[in-house]
Amino acid sequence: MPEVEGDALFDAASQACAELPGLPMVEVGTYCGRSTVWLGAAAQSNKSLLFAVDHHSGSEENQKGWEWFDESLVDLSTQRLNTLPTFLATLRRAQLDDAVVPFVAESLVASMQIISEVAFCFIDGGHGETPTQIDFAAWAPKVAIGGRLAIHDVFADPRDGGQAPYRNIYRPAIDSGEFVEMLSVASLRVLRRVEKNLV
Ligand SMILES: C[S@@+](CC[C@H](N)C(=O)[O-])C[C@H]1O[C@@H](n2cnc3c(N)ncnc32)[C@H](O)[C@@H]1O
Repeated sequence: MPEVEGDALFDAASQACAELPGLPMVEVGTYCGRSTVWLGAAAQSNKSLLFAVDHHSGSEENQKGWEWFDESLVDLSTQRLNTLPTFLATLRRAQLDDAVVPFVAESLVASMQIISEVAFCFIDGGHGETPTQIDFAAWAPKVAIGGRLAIHDVFADPRDGGQAPYRNIYRPAIDSGEFVEMLSVASLRVLRRVEKNLV
């Protein structure tokens, strides 16, 4: 995540927490915690909480043979990717343990446990067709009126990047009439919920 997107995420999340005190935030897809540092800082400075959801086994593109594979994240005892130790170290270094609750689970499973409405939901999990459809259906309904739905890697033009977050999260949110776009920075989009009927 480029710094310009992280700073925008921090500002948007801080604003949402201030407007909706008492409601938590959710991040879907933390990897090693880079975006979590911005969101966690927003939660901490507003006395809110961030549920940071990830199964920590990495997405498809993080696996061996793919573009974003990092050998140092492989757990030698299982030979599988495990980003949890690095994620926890990031939280400790950033002194965010009191503001971020690591939720180690499949996104859908976590969504069934986090039953509260949320002030801010950032979706940056699996970027394929099915995971983006699942994440939209699971998490968008939790965004409170006035809350924000933030989406990463939104590319309207296929020449710029994969289409699934655009097609399966951004578009249905906007087309529902329940969200309006507030902010667009690089591939980050932040939408604000204005109605709550359909999604
Ligand atoms: C693009 S990375 C997140 C990057 C992070 N937001 C950042 O900016 O630093 C996607 C993450 O989503 C996680 N992920 C993918 N599919 C998931 C699922 N179905 N449930 C939980 N986590 C998932 C992967 O393990 C990976 O860590």
